[in-house]
Amino acid sequence: MPPEPRKRLVVAITGASGALYAVRLLKAGLEAGHDIDLVASDYGKRLLIEECDLNLKTTEVGSWLDERYGPAERTGRLTLHREQDLGASIASGSQRWDGMIVIPCSMKTLAGIAAGFAANLVERAADVTLKERRPLVLVPRETPLNLIHLENLTRVARAGATIVPAMPGFYQKPQSLEDLADFIVGRVFSVLEIPHRLFPAWKAGD
Ligand SMILES: Cc1cc2nc3c(=O)[nH]c(=O)nc-3n(C[C@H](O)[C@H](O)[C@H](O)COP(=O)(O)O)c2cc1C
Repeated sequence: MPPEPRKRLVVAITGASGALYAVRLLKAGLEAGHDIDLVASDYGKRLLIEECDLNLKTTEVGSWLDERYGPAERTGRLTLHREQDLGASIASGSQRWDGMIVIPCSMKTLAGIAAGFAANLVERAADVTLKERRPLVLVPRETPLNLIHLENLTRVARAGATIVPAMPGFYQKPQSLEDLADFIVGRVFSVLEIPHRLFPAWKAGD
């Protein structure tokens, strides 16, 4: 089979619980040869430290992945951007990318995207992704949801975003937190039509 086409993905990590979802997406995406433009908000960085012991300021993502999960070939290129840099390449629709994922997506960033506020690079890149009619996938994590959250989710869905809530299924019999996270990453990849083998497709038991 010919190799899958290399994609350029924008990945944003914001300050909701579930930094592991982002880590597993980076791992799978880079190993599959996709190029990733990464931007993490301040609280996204904090949650990466608190939940995954990954400090983006001091640690190179590839070495961290090697140390945590064992060495792997990563043919995708990782480019880091600063949240405050509204002059970054991914702030402009003149740059091409194949899709953007906000994983995990806080209710605050969701509100910013829903309002078209574009005050930081996460919100601006999401705004551009929507205006250029490219796929935008949000992985929100909050519970319970108030009416404002629900209305914001509806608003961004109407504008073209796909909501993949951080709600892993259990029918694959996950053995680890990584299995749970990979379930969500697989769902995100499916939305973006990126082939993956993160979990087997469901088979009816008849
Ligand atoms: C430990 C911790 C966990 C948090 N978990 C969530 C969460 O699951 N969902 C959420 O919407 N906000 C959560 N927050 C609050 C957000 O981090 C906060 O609203 C922040 O302003 C989000 O900014 P950002 O979207 O720019 O990252 C959490 C904050 C902390 C410190």
